[in-house]
Amino acid sequence: MKLLDELAVDVRAYDHGHPVNRQFADVPQDEPEIHAEEGFEDELASFNLFAYLSRSSVTWNPSVVSVCKDSLYCPTTEEYILPVIHGNDRVEWFVQLSDEIYWDVEDRDSGAKRAKVIMKAGDVASMPADIRHQGYAPKRSMLLVWENASGKIPELISSGKLPSTAVQF
Ligand SMILES: [Fe+2]
Repeated sequence: MKLLDELAVDVRAYDHGHPVNRQFADVPQDEPEIHAEEGFEDELASFNLFAYLSRSSVTWNPSVVSVCKDSLYCPTTEEYILPVIHGNDRVEWFVQLSDEIYWDVEDRDSGAKRAKVIMKAGDVASMPADIRHQGYAPKRSMLLVWENASGKIPELISSGKLPSTAVQF
């Protein structure tokens, strides 16, 4: 963990005031093994994402854990109901990492019902750019939110240069 230490990254731990949430008591807390080739020992770092999320003290509050240019991985834990109805301005990918979330999906502007999406562990959904949605998690669950954070995207979508969906069937 030398690299993380040098970056002053605060990986959640009991010592930092992040006990495991009682609903994630079964989540293993072991750390990944790194077997670096000689000379690369200081260039590798890793952490257990499930352990990290099991120690989240908040819900419905994505935190950025990886950045590759404009691509952000923003995992979060969810429980009970999203306190706001979130309106998208870009496509948003969801990967359900554990348990379940039920989504009510509506047209962003008119509120017309579009879909109910029940996501179970392992499910992937691509939420369009022109919807609003509210989620409900009957039990605390882990969700990976993945999006392109480029500031150009809302303009590209509203001008019709980009579609509001990531895929077309
Ligand atoms: Fe959203």
